[in-house]
Amino acid sequence: MKGVVLAGGLGTRLYPLTYATNKHLLPVYDKPMVYYPISTLVKTGIDEILVVVGGPYAGHFVRVLKNGKELGVKHIEFAYQEEEGGISQALSLAEDFSDNSSICVILGDNCTDADISREVKNFKDGALIFFKKVKDPSRFGVGVFDKKGKLIAIEEKPKKPKSNFVQTGLYIYDNTVFDKIRMLRPSARGELEVTDLNNIYLREGSLKSATLNGFWSDAGTFDSLYEVNRYWYQKSRKSS
Ligand code: G1P
Repeated sequence: MKGVVLAGGLGTRLYPLTYATNKHLLPVYDKPMVYYPISTLVKTGIDEILVVVGGPYAGHFVRVLKNGKELGVKHIEFAYQEEEGGISQALSLAEDFSDNSSICVILGDNCTDADISREVKNFKDGALIFFKKVKDPSRFGVGVFDKKGKLIAIEEKPKKPKSNFVQTGLYIYDNTVFDKIRMLRPSARGELEVTDLNNIYLREGSLKSATLNGFWSDAGTFDSLYEVNRYWYQKSRKSS
């Protein structure tokens, strides 16, 4: 399976930190943020990775990631997202790279120490998404479950979340994903949403979900960026 890291966007929620470089290159303890999602993929055995970049500092990624070898990536490619069209629009740029196979996708600001090797190895078709219980669900795509605990919908950043389980930024898709992205229409915020994409799989009956073990957080706000820095600092203290 190949991997895709989505690292576009302007990072406006982190202004003024992102005035001079891309959000995904900001420090998370002792590494640039994007090292973490790449390491999550490499840990599963994925060593062919496409990094979708965007914004005025896209060139900075080449200086940081070089040819990927330092991170254990055998083959690294870059794609440039021209507009801020959302996660699904960024993912559409991976169609040629995917070469008709399944892909494991991770958002460039998702920092986790979870190991999803088993899920990657056992994946057959449809889509697999990973949930995590959080305290502030309205910042995320939130799972809606029926009385039996079956997932019936995902709602993007709802004001009144129907559960505390949110979809993380880790997704495994079969190759029908690109046809499904073509079916999407921009949301109220003008983006092709990953939530709408996952709801297509859900309605089709081919969406599976799992709970992500270990630590997980995005790092796209001041608070979450601070938290991930703190987590990796403390983790490094424990292991030294
Ligand atoms: C995006 C998705 C959201 C998901 C989150 C995970 O949010 O839209 O559904 O829960 O990533 O990090 P955003 O990047 O807008 O924070």
